[in-house]
Amino acid sequence: MRYGHFDDEEREYVITRPDTPLPWINYLGSEDYFALVSNTAGGYSFYRDARLRRLIRYRYNNAPLDVGGRFLYVRDDDSGDYWNPGWQPTQRELDDYTCRHGLGYTVIAAGRGGIRTETLYLVPPGETLEVWRTRVTNERSVPARLSLFGAVEFCLWDAQDDATNFQRNLSTGEVHVEDGVVYHVTEYRERRDHFAWFACSTPMQGFETSREAFLGAYRGWERPIAVEGGAMSGSIANGWQPVGALQTTLVLEPGESRDVTFVLGYTENPADRKFDPPGSRRPNTSGARAVIDRYRQTGRADADLAALRAGWEERLRSLQVATGDPHVDRMVNTWNPYQCMVTFNLSRSASMFESGIGRGMGFRDSNQDLLGFVHVIPERARARILDIAATQLPDGGAYHQYQPLTKRGNDDIGAGFNDDPAWLVLAVAAYLKETGDLAILDEPVTWDNAEGSETPLHDHLRRSIDFTLDRLGPHGLPLIGRADWNDCLNLNVFSDQPGESFQTAPNRPGGVAESVFIAGLFVLAAREAEAIAHLRGEEAEASRCRDAVATMTAAIEAHGWDGAWYRRAYDHVGTPVGSASNEEGQIYIEPQGMMAMAGVGLADGRTRTAIASVRERLATPHGIVLHQPAYASYHLELGEISSYPPGYKENAGIFCHTNPWLMIGEVITGNAEGALDYYLRINPSAREAISDVHRCEPYVYAQMIAGRDAPTHGEAKNSWLTGTAAWNMVAISQWILGIRPEQDGLRVEPVIPGYWTGFRATRQFRGTTYEIEVARGTRRGPAATGSVEVVVDGRPIDGTLIPLPQPGTPRVRVEIRLA
Ligand code: GLC
Ligand code: GLC
Repeated sequence: MRYGHFDDEEREYVITRPDTPLPWINYLGSEDYFALVSNTAGGYSFYRDARLRRLIRYRYNNAPLDVGGRFLYVRDDDSGDYWNPGWQPTQRELDDYTCRHGLGYTVIAAGRGGIRTETLYLVPPGETLEVWRTRVTNERSVPARLSLFGAVEFCLWDAQDDATNFQRNLSTGEVHVEDGVVYHVTEYRERRDHFAWFACSTPMQGFETSREAFLGAYRGWERPIAVEGGAMSGSIANGWQPVGALQTTLVLEPGESRDVTFVLGYTENPADRKFDPPGSRRPNTSGARAVIDRYRQTGRADADLAALRAGWEERLRSLQVATGDPHVDRMVNTWNPYQCMVTFNLSRSASMFESGIGRGMGFRDSNQDLLGFVHVIPERARARILDIAATQLPDGGAYHQYQPLTKRGNDDIGAGFNDDPAWLVLAVAAYLKETGDLAILDEPVTWDNAEGSETPLHDHLRRSIDFTLDRLGPHGLPLIGRADWNDCLNLNVFSDQPGESFQTAPNRPGGVAESVFIAGLFVLAAREAEAIAHLRGEEAEASRCRDAVATMTAAIEAHGWDGAWYRRAYDHVGTPVGSASNEEGQIYIEPQGMMAMAGVGLADGRTRTAIASVRERLATPHGIVLHQPAYASYHLELGEISSYPPGYKENAGIFCHTNPWLMIGEVITGNAEGALDYYLRINPSAREAISDVHRCEPYVYAQMIAGRDAPTHGEAKNSWLTGTAAWNMVAISQWILGIRPEQDGLRVEPVIPGYWTGFRATRQFRGTTYEIEVARGTRRGPAATGSVEVVVDGRPIDGTLIPLPQPGTPRVRVEIRLA
C-alpha cells in the first residue's frame, strides 16, 4: 500500500494522506539553521547544534505521534470552525491534502469548506530563519472572514536541560514583545548573546506568549482556547512555557488569494550591543528587525525557493543517470545524494529516532558519510576531513565522536573503538580520487585539537596505520578494543549492570579480543595509504604499507577463514565469533563484504564462497541480515549485540549499512544480477508499494529493517541518519554503474544485469563533463563474454580507465559496448 507517489520531474515526494504509518519527514536548511519538518508540519528547529541551540520543543515518544512543531490554524470567523492545514494537531477532516517534500523545502496544501491553503516551508540560503509562507484562497462564492494563527512552543535552548531541569526552567522563561514580534529571550539577560523570534508578514491582530493563555488550562494543542474563541489576550509569559502565538485576520472575496508569512528566526548580537539602550535590560532587536522587515515582503519566499532549487540542480548535475529503472534513477539522481547531504550535515544527531541530544558527529560515521558524495560538495568535504583529523589522538586513535559546535573530541564517550582511524584513510582517499587535490595532504592539522601540535595531514594517515599495527592480538589480527564497525559487538565489556552503557563501561583487562573485520578494513585502508604515499614519492612509506597488507592478509588467511566464510572475531579469551563452531551467530555479514572490497581471498576463491554463503544463509526478501542464527539470549561475552530482541538492530536485523558491501562484493566477483538484486531489496523506492510493511519514508534509506527473526520482518526504523546513504551511493554509482573516480582518471566499468540494455550517465569529474553511454551488444563483431569495448571521443582505448583529458576540456564522450 502507498501513501503517496514520486514526482520525479519536480524531485518531490508527494504524500497524499496525512496519516502515514510514521511521521514522514524532510530537512530544511543546510548551513547553520536546520529544521525537521514532517508531513503534518511537526518537528523542530535548531541553530547548528541540535542539543545546545534548540529553538522549539519536540516531545519524542508522544501520543499521538508528532504533535509538536509548527502550529498553524485556520479559523472561519463566521462559523467558528477551525482546522490545521497539516491535519495535526486538531485532526479535523480535510477535503483534500497533499504534502510535497522537495529538496530543502516542503509544501503542505489542504482545503476545507472552500478555503484552500498552501504553505511553503523553507530555510532561505544564507539565513538563520525558517519561513512558513501560506497562500490562502477563498474558493467559496461568498466573502470569507478568516483568522490565521501561527504558534511555536519555545525550547529553553539546551534540549536536554529543557526536558529535565524543571525546578529551574519553570522560572527562567522570558519573552519580549515589540512591534508585533515575539522575542524569546530566556537567559539573554545573563550569558546568552542570542534570542529567537516569531513574526508575521501581516499586521498582528493579537498574540499570546504564555502557553496556558493560548491553550487554556488542561487543554492541548488540538483545541486551543484562543483559537476556539477567535481572540488573543496579549499574555506575557513569566516562566512556565513561553510560546509565540500570533493571530492575523483577513477578509477574502470569492476567488481571492492572499499570502501570509510566519517567520521563526535566530539572531546573535555582539556582547557589547546586547541591550538597547546600552545599560538597559531591553534586548537590542535592531539586527533582527532588519531581517524581519526583509521577510515581511511578499514574493521573497518565491525567490528563495527558486534559489534553493537552482542550487540543488547545480549540485546534482555532478551525476545524473538514465537507466530505465525508476528506482535506480530517482535514488541516484535525487534522493540518495540528498540524504547524503543530510547525513553530512547532521551525522547521527537529529531525526525521528535520534533525539538531537545524544550523539555528536561520529568519527567513523562522518568519514563514511563522505564516501560516494565528495563530488557533490568537494570544498565542504575538504573542510570536514581537516576538522575530523584535527580531533585525532596522538597515538593515531580517535575520539569516537566530536561536538559540532566546538569541533572537539567528546570526552563522555572517549576513544578505543579500534576501527575508527582506518575510516579517515578511506575518506581522504575518496577525496583525493575525486579532486586530485594532493595539497590537502600537506595541510597542518592538530592532534586532539591542541594548538601547536600540527603536523601535515599525511602524517595523520601514517599514524592511523600505525594505530592498528601497534595493537595486534595473538593471531596477528587487530585488537577490537571497545568495538569495531559494529558498535554492539563489545567483546571486552562483560556488563551485568542494567542500564550500563556498553560503549563506555570499563573494559575487562587482559583480553585478547581481535576483529577479523578490522583486519579486512585495515587491508583496504593500507592499500589506499600505500597508493597515497606513492603519489607523494614516499617510497619507504609505500613499501611499509605494502608489507603490512601482506602480513595482515596472511593473518586473515591463517586465522580468519572458517571453512565457508570469514570469521567475525575472536573473543576476550580467544574463542572464535562468527564460526560454524558457535551455536548462534555462526556467520556475520560484515567480514564477507569487507574482504571482497579489500581484495582478500579473490585469487583463491574464498571470497566467492563467502559471498555464496551470505546468499544462502543471510539474504531475505527485505535485505541481508547481519548474522544468523540470531542470539536468543544475552551473552555476557558479546555485549550489546545480544541485548536486542532477535531480528532487531545489530542482533540479526537487516542493518542496511552493510548491504552495499555485499553488492560491491557481488560486482567484484562478477555477479551483476546478484548485485542489483540486493540493491533493489533495500532501495526505498522499490519498497514504496509495501509502505504499510516498511513504514518509514519511501524516499530515504533506513538504518535497519527488521530481520527474519523479528515478528515485524520488513519493518524499517531509523530512517535518514545512517551510513546506508553513503554506502549505497558508492555501490550503485561506483560499482554497479561502475563510474568510479581514480587518481589517474575516471573508471567506467559497469557490471549490470543481462536484462538491462544499457544506460546513459553524465558525470562531472575534475572540471570535465563526461557523457557516458553504455550499450549491450557490439557493432564491431562478437566480443567475448564479459569483455568490454571503450570508445572515448570516437577512439577505442584499452581498458576501462578514461585517462584525464587536457586541462580545460569541457566535455568527453564515452561509449561502452558490453558483450
Ligand atoms: C550506527 C552507528 C555506526 C555503527 C553502526 C553499527 O549506525 O552510527 O557508527 O557502525 O551503528 O553498529
Ligand atoms: C549504534 C547502534 C546501536 C547502539 C549505538 C550505541 O547506533 O546502531 O544499536 O546502541 O550505536 O552508541
